[in-house]
Amino acid sequence: MSIMTTTHDTIRAVLWQDGRLQLLDQRILPQQYVFLSYDEPVAVAQAIRDMVVRGAPAIGITAAYGVVLAGRQRFRSAGAAWHDAIKEDIARLAASRPTAVNLFWALERMERLIAGLGEGDPEAALLAEARAIHEEDIAANHRMGELGAALIEGSRVGVLTHCNAGALATGGYGTALGVIRSAYAAGRIGQVYADETRPWLQGARLTAWEMVQERIPVTLLSDGASAHLMKQGKVAWVIVGSDRIAANGDVANKIGTYAAAISARHHGVKFMVVAPTSTVDMSLASGDLIPIENRSPDEVLSLAGQRVAAPGAEGWNPAFDVTPAGLIDAIVTERGVVLNPTPEKMAAMMKKG
Ligand code: MRU
Repeated sequence: MSIMTTTHDTIRAVLWQDGRLQLLDQRILPQQYVFLSYDEPVAVAQAIRDMVVRGAPAIGITAAYGVVLAGRQRFRSAGAAWHDAIKEDIARLAASRPTAVNLFWALERMERLIAGLGEGDPEAALLAEARAIHEEDIAANHRMGELGAALIEGSRVGVLTHCNAGALATGGYGTALGVIRSAYAAGRIGQVYADETRPWLQGARLTAWEMVQERIPVTLLSDGASAHLMKQGKVAWVIVGSDRIAANGDVANKIGTYAAAISARHHGVKFMVVAPTSTVDMSLASGDLIPIENRSPDEVLSLAGQRVAAPGAEGWNPAFDVTPAGLIDAIVTERGVVLNPTPEKMAAMMKKG
């Protein structure tokens, strides 16, 4: 069954304008709505590391545009030798964050293009490829929105989401929030609950902002409240995005996703992961092999730059966790839905065109 998804799609956080990359600064949303402008690949890598832009597909798209800027700069300085010189920029972009495989997927796609280019100015060809990566991501999100919304039975149900897997985290429309947008437009979802998502508060700052912009009802809760919410029967589905999905269907996503999946299974709530195939890493047999980013303990010990933890306490700050495939009811990609994922089902889905 097909559900039309043309509404609730007003937000873009990554733009290519006037030969420059523009990134909506997600560190200061929703208090300030400011685009920062980039024409240096070094600064783009730093922006990814510093979370000006975040979310797996958005990081990949940003890195692709970073390669366009690198191509321009290296051709100007090195001429025909730009092919060799650009490798340093690509390596720097790849080192910006470790978990989201979309980053490496996008850079490898740009590298494949580069391998086929001659010694002339590469900018137009690089830009066409980066734009294609960006546009394909938006199209994939709309497709996943339809597929995921079709899984939600009943009318105006409640759903819980964790972190921000929305327009802000992608080329546009979102993965988990794409399904939520589509299902809300179709009358299947009536209420969105959003975990605040410590320590960066992507739920409180970004998901809540996106939902309010799109006039989709959203209620915020502290991360620890989600099991209680499920016990009260307020949600039918937990819907999240992913940073990397292993070949067996294990899913890395924002820290706290695993706890939500355990709670969901305990309470008979269904668990849906929405991610494009650029998030699937078939080279890793299981989620145990996914590199998990550890960020500064200060992010946990502080809130809004203000230390809140007792002096002397130490912090532990893994940015992601891995939810085993056995706790997942559906993985939704643009190539189709995998119910109760197994290695065989994941391989079959990836083989589809
Ligand atoms: O640290 P972040 O904000 O980059 O983490 C983002 C997430 O965990 C998202 O859920 C994931 O990247 C999917 S975004 C469509």
